[in-house]
Amino acid sequence: MIDIRKLSKSYGSFQALRELDLEIAGGTVFGVVGANGAGKSTAFSILATLLPPTSGDAFIGGSSVRTAAADVRKKIGYMPDFFGVYDQLKTDEYLDFYAASYGIDVRQRQVLIGQLLELVNLEQKHDAYVDSLSRGMKQRLCLARSLIHDPEVLILDEPASGLDPRARVEMREIMKRLKGMDKTVLISSHILPELAEMCDEIGVLDRGRLVARNSVREIHTRLKGDRVITVKLNGSPDLAVRFFEERPFISAIRPDSAGEITFSFSGGEADQAELLSAAVSRGLGIRSFSEEETDLEDVFMAITKEGAEQ
Ligand SMILES: Nc1ncnc2c1ncn2[C@@H]1O[C@H](COP(=O)(O)OP(=O)(O)O)[C@@H](O)[C@H]1O
Ligand SMILES: [Mg+2]
Repeated sequence: MIDIRKLSKSYGSFQALRELDLEIAGGTVFGVVGANGAGKSTAFSILATLLPPTSGDAFIGGSSVRTAAADVRKKIGYMPDFFGVYDQLKTDEYLDFYAASYGIDVRQRQVLIGQLLELVNLEQKHDAYVDSLSRGMKQRLCLARSLIHDPEVLILDEPASGLDPRARVEMREIMKRLKGMDKTVLISSHILPELAEMCDEIGVLDRGRLVARNSVREIHTRLKGDRVITVKLNGSPDLAVRFFEERPFISAIRPDSAGEITFSFSGGEADQAELLSAAVSRGLGIRSFSEEETDLEDVFMAITKEGAEQ
């Protein structure tokens, strides 16, 4: 549905996008994660036909952003990463203004606006001034606006930025609804866990290049899988290494010179308790026995690296 081919963008001598290639299947919620300055907004503005690429092209449902911008605009809804100022406009008036600008009939508009406000959980606020809404509400209103012409593809630049956890949960629910409506959604963020909550797949943008891509399901499977355990010992690790080698669920034992041993453990919590008590009764001189926090970013980068090596 979205097909980005060797897309490059330079601002003067600075290359913000470097031959970006990315294909996204219809119905996917795809997250682009990258530090500030990675090129997310640049890529999204090009997809939204608001910025011309320096070279390369991108296709939305087969239409080129270079040569068929008008077609692309019909197919996409775009939410920029900043809001304007809405002098004295109420929520429903705001949506009505945009619906009118899309040429939607006045009678249809009322029904449509009701549906959109319901979709983004703002029915209660239809009569509120936009300026009085919270950040999360404004973001959802902006999302409703991007849906007015029922586009197949949504391009959302940092829709969850600055939201508190509760507002993020709400945003995630809305993403699910959009997925249920069979929309293809492209979302950016500079925070990976925030994106992982909402997306099916994630790509990492680094200095204008896509350096990694993976499904969120795979990341979660890995997170739930093996944990890494570190054991600190008094004295030589040799005896302990032999002990751990003979135990079930243990692999990749790595002793270090400081008398510390790290290994992967695939057993459950009861197995882990059993292991610790066995190690203690063996008199291995254990000072500490701890489970490393598995970090989402670490797992993501590890899987991605494996993928690249294949
Ligand atoms: N209009 C512009 N003129 C010059 N440089 C720009 C312009 N817009 C963005 N840049 C630069 O391009 C890089 C990518 O920016 P951007 O696409 O906004 O990244 P992101 O959205 O990932 O933070 C940044 O280094 C930014 O400073
Ligand atoms: Mg940006």
